[in-house]
Amino acid sequence: MARQGNFYWGSLFLLLGFVGFISLPAEAAVKKYQFDIQVKNVSRLCHAKPIVTVNGMFPGPTIYVREGDNVLINVTNHAQYNMSIHWHGLKQFRNGWADGPAYITQCPIKTGHSYTYNFNVTGQRGTLWWHAHILWLRATVYGAIVIMPKEGTPFPFPQPYREATLILGEWWNTDVEEVVRQGNNLGLPPQMSDAHTINGKPGPLFPCSEKHTYVMEVEQGKTYLLRIINAALNDELFFAIAGHNMTVVEIDAVYTKPFTTQALLIAPGQTTNVLVQADQVAGRYFMATRPFMDVPLAIDNKTATAILQYKGIPNTVLPILPQLPAPNDTTFAMSYNKKLKSLNSPQFPANIPLKVDRHLFYTIGLGMNPCPTCQNGTQLTASLNNITFVMPRIGLLQAHYFSLKGVFRTDFPDRPPIPFNYTGAPLTANLGTSLGTRLSKISFNSTVELVLQDTNLLTVESHPFHLHGYNFFVVGTGVGNFDPAKDPAKFNLVDPPERNTIGVPTGGWTAIRFKADNPGVWFMHCHLELHTMWGLKMAFVVEDGKGPNQSVLPPPKDLPTC
Ligand SMILES: *[C@@H]1O[C@H](CO)[C@@H](O)[C@H](O)[C@H]1NC(C)=O
Ligand SMILES: *[C@@H]1O[C@H](CO)[C@@H](O)[C@H](O)[C@H]1NC(C)=O
Ligand SMILES: *[C@@H]1O[C@H](CO)[C@@H](O)[C@H](O)[C@H]1NC(C)=O
Ligand SMILES: *[C@@H]1O[C@H](CO)[C@@H](O)[C@H](O)[C@H]1NC(C)=O
Ligand SMILES: *[C@@H]1O[C@H](CO)[C@@H](O)[C@H](O)[C@H]1NC(C)=O
Ligand SMILES: *[C@@H]1O[C@H](CO)[C@@H](O)[C@H](O)[C@H]1NC(C)=O
Ligand SMILES: *[C@@H]1O[C@H](CO)[C@@H](O)[C@H](O)[C@H]1NC(C)=O
Ligand SMILES: *[C@@H]1O[C@H](CO)[C@@H](O)[C@H](O)[C@H]1NC(C)=O
Ligand SMILES: *[C@@H]1O[C@H](CO)[C@@H](O)[C@H](O)[C@H]1NC(C)=O
Ligand SMILES: *[C@@H]1O[C@H](CO)[C@@H](O)[C@H](O)[C@H]1NC(C)=O
Ligand SMILES: *[C@@H]1O[C@H](CO)[C@@H](O)[C@H](O)[C@H]1NC(C)=O
Ligand SMILES: *[C@@H]1O[C@H](CO)[C@@H](O)[C@H](O)[C@H]1NC(C)=O
Repeated sequence: MARQGNFYWGSLFLLLGFVGFISLPAEAAVKKYQFDIQVKNVSRLCHAKPIVTVNGMFPGPTIYVREGDNVLINVTNHAQYNMSIHWHGLKQFRNGWADGPAYITQCPIKTGHSYTYNFNVTGQRGTLWWHAHILWLRATVYGAIVIMPKEGTPFPFPQPYREATLILGEWWNTDVEEVVRQGNNLGLPPQMSDAHTINGKPGPLFPCSEKHTYVMEVEQGKTYLLRIINAALNDELFFAIAGHNMTVVEIDAVYTKPFTTQALLIAPGQTTNVLVQADQVAGRYFMATRPFMDVPLAIDNKTATAILQYKGIPNTVLPILPQLPAPNDTTFAMSYNKKLKSLNSPQFPANIPLKVDRHLFYTIGLGMNPCPTCQNGTQLTASLNNITFVMPRIGLLQAHYFSLKGVFRTDFPDRPPIPFNYTGAPLTANLGTSLGTRLSKISFNSTVELVLQDTNLLTVESHPFHLHGYNFFVVGTGVGNFDPAKDPAKFNLVDPPERNTIGVPTGGWTAIRFKADNPGVWFMHCHLELHTMWGLKMAFVVEDGKGPNQSVLPPPKDLPTC
């Protein structure tokens, strides 16, 4: 367990973003990081603009820890915006205080203030990431979290020679908060991004990108581990490397049964680890990423590239582009997702809840509400079970812990108010929703099955859902309306993928299961920032258990106040 005196200063390693291994202490340690939220002028695509960063870096520093470590990250806010940071995918057992979503588990860190996120990394190893969880600031405030397995525990796949982190993102030439303000004034989606990026760089298919291309050098015959993260705000992405297949070995910090693929699909919030063999003719090969979008909605569909470069090959050799699936290739998306399965080995078992205590069925809807201040008098909105979530003014976890009245209600419905043909003909009338800060109360240690059902309110669309505080098992998915009589018989209760973010297919459904053994208030939301902003979110209040280790920990002394 964590020991005093075995301090380890992560900040010494912040500049190591490239391929390489960082030596970590063998034993669990206390790891300290300093995150200074600073505004920095950054130039991309021939435009310079001030962006919010951590320590002036874009992407921000990698948190590099070992399973069992105690991590202390002191976030000091020097920017003009309120800030909070989410450690995406870390389970934060009994410790929602360190989870980060603003007004859900904490009040924001105000300008000039600090807050130390204090958490233990237990029972997890692999790739996760961190990002701002307030406004749209995660557009530039994000970085990787790498959790190495305990000393002496090898990967359950061939040891790679080196590794690299690839963070896929979205870039706007103008101030993102201003873009969002303009969209909200119209009641419409904000203007789409100007580029996609790989490690903050758009690559040579964009102008002024000579210096803004990520290059990963490889040696012939060696195997590399790529830790791929989708940090984009609104786009599910395909990713491929010209001439090289990839072997998927882990998703969302959970090992998978390995399979080989020419391209992968990754939704905002998700991570994917792949092995790549540098076994082709020595040369320069593009790694490329571009969105998946299988409904006719206007999105930024531009391709970001980085370069896989064999050692000794000059920069003058023109790279080859990979073939990415077509933007609307639903068939590829479905068949790729179907291949993802938990490793489920004796060492890394998949403990799927087999008996369900609580059945939940939530419909995902877009809608339209009156908006007197908007240009058209209406604004686009989004809802779960027809409820558009209203953000409270203080943290919900505080309200729960200190039993403050009037902050939230616990009557979030287990099913939609009015059943309808969810994925039938598009519904374009009566698109109003009801507003509320309504949570769903879950008994400690109960097993929950949640079916997320897309609807054709306005349009069908694919939605990546993220649950805080837990991993869940994706036991089933399908196109059309979920059939409670027939579909459960087809569930995979043996080796379903275990993750923290899952794409609900366009006009379809996804069923997840988890055991509510982590008390606290846990946010669940669509990880498309546009939809989160529009209210496609809710939270679970998981009650304390009776045992000594089954209640929410006391809040830290420096927890920000509102
Ligand atoms: C940032 O860059 C822009 C454009 O070059 C320039 O106008 C502005 O003064 C710079 N701001 C800072 C703080 O350096
Ligand atoms: C966090 O950093 C700030 C700014 O450097 C410093 O004033 C504060 O003492 C630090 N907090 C802790 C707990 O180290
Ligand atoms: C981390 O683990 C240590 C040792 O078990 C424990 O004392 C401490 O309370 C834990 N901290 C958090 C934030 O969970
Ligand atoms: C990649 O996989 C495909 C399909 O299995 C196979 O046809 C192709 O030869 C493989 N390419 C490489 C470079 O191994
Ligand atoms: C990208 O979108 C534009 C319209 O915004 C369209 O003209 C173009 O064909 C699209 N490209 C691809 C590859 O789908
Ligand atoms: C995908 O897009 C292409 C080009 O826009 C179009 O020709 C094709 O019909 C679309 N496929 C599907 C399945 O919608
Ligand atoms: C907003 O109003 C404009 C002009 O009346 C119209 O063209 C547009 O379709 C409206 N948008 C929405 C979402 O209602
Ligand atoms: C739902 O709508 C679909 C598409 O319009 C239709 O095929 C189906 O029969 C409808 N289902 C019911 C139960 O009405
Ligand atoms: C959602 O709630 C609004 C307001 O109560 C209502 O007008 C609308 O019919 C409801 N829609 C659905 C799909 O339940
Ligand atoms: C949770 O429930 C399971 C039965 O589903 C039981 O075996 C286990 O002991 C319980 N755990 C706790 C911490 O209460
Ligand atoms: C509570 O947790 C501590 C540290 O994780 C552990 O040592 C102790 O045995 C646990 N107690 C119970 C009753 O589970
Ligand atoms: C920052 O957060 C505090 C606490 O919630 C709030 O009172 C204040 O209005 C926020 N400031 C801005 C600029 O949003």
